[in-house]
Amino acid sequence: MINVGVLGATGAVGQRFVQLLAEHPWFNLTTLTASERSAGKLYRDVVKWRLDVPFPEQVGDIRVSPTDISSLKEVDLVFSALPADIAGSIETGCAQAGIGVCSNAGSHRMDPDVPLVVTEVNPDHLGLIDIQRDRGQDGFIVTNPNCSTIVMALALAPLRHFGFSDIRVATMQAVSGAGFEGVPAMGIFDNVIPYIGQEEQKMETEILKIMGTLDGGMVRPAPFKVSASCHRVPVLDGHTMAIWADIMDPVEKVREAFQNYAPPITSLPTLPGKSISFFSEPDRPQPRLDRMRGKGMTVSVGRVREGIRFIAMGHNTIRGAAGASVLNAELISTKNYL
Ligand SMILES: NC(=O)c1ccc[n+]([C@@H]2O[C@H](COP(=O)([O-])OP(=O)(O)OC[C@H]3O[C@@H](n4cnc5c(N)ncnc54)[C@H](OP(=O)(O)O)[C@@H]3O)[C@@H](O)[C@H]2O)c1
Repeated sequence: MINVGVLGATGAVGQRFVQLLAEHPWFNLTTLTASERSAGKLYRDVVKWRLDVPFPEQVGDIRVSPTDISSLKEVDLVFSALPADIAGSIETGCAQAGIGVCSNAGSHRMDPDVPLVVTEVNPDHLGLIDIQRDRGQDGFIVTNPNCSTIVMALALAPLRHFGFSDIRVATMQAVSGAGFEGVPAMGIFDNVIPYIGQEEQKMETEILKIMGTLDGGMVRPAPFKVSASCHRVPVLDGHTMAIWADIMDPVEKVREAFQNYAPPITSLPTLPGKSISFFSEPDRPQPRLDRMRGKGMTVSVGRVREGIRFIAMGHNTIRGAAGASVLNAELISTKNYL
């Protein structure tokens, strides 16, 4: 078993990490950190458990630590669910201290030697860990993209060979994407907010790194353009998006590509049976009905029409955050980086 910790364990993404790691077959959850407000207290006493699954009692007696290196002596790997404004230096400190970091935060995603990985889409980019090691760092940092970008990356993966050059996307994003304290009920109930800070820019840039080519120790960005418009909607969990791709092939070929998609990775504990679930019904996917497919790790695709136009939807705090990071860590541990 590999000893692991969660940084920011009391937050929306942190709780998902705790849920996914509490009974993990390869990882032993020993350490939970949060802010000074929570440090020193038992996890069960300080966390406001808000997930729709029971609280994992076996981790309730872990005493929450402050988020600093001295709290992480027992662990080989940490999962970071820290706010981006503080994650950067803490994650760098962990990597320099010999700890592996799998991060959800945005701080290091676009660093040239940090892999930005969606396990099924660009597993080869983990080779950038060797570049980090070459500059004398014992640990490493691996990131996963922003939640909406992960859903889009998985939805585009089966279409790569069609050679598109122009992607347009309009999102309808769940409130949990902003964290527990992020969107006041009075602001979102009976409403749509047509702005999510920096989200459009993240969708337009991160995808080019993910779908880019690892070449000579660096990633060459993918040669297509993305234009995004992002919106917050009154849905609890599950980001939905309408995507337009300039694919000239017949729509039947595109449907077949979704239906027959098989990722290059098999047999990891958190890998769903199907990474893409394809719907032919005219009114699917829907977040309330489809977000828990593959225990929240499957991206659902439907309404594929001439254009090419389609809808993609995935669970933002599982597939789009904690689950994606745990899946990356599972792949990393099969490659002897830990
Ligand atoms: N929500 C999503 O769908 C999603 C998806 C992808 C990526 N992300 C990213 O994941 C990260 C976490 O997001 P979230 O939604 O889980 O946020 P959140 O609910 O606000 O949780 C933040 C966590 O960080 C801790 N924290 C806050 N300030 C701290 C400090 N100064 N020092 C140490 N710990 C501190 C909090 O501890 P206390 O409880 O003690 O304050 C809490 O555990 C962000 O970088 C976010 O951009 C989120």
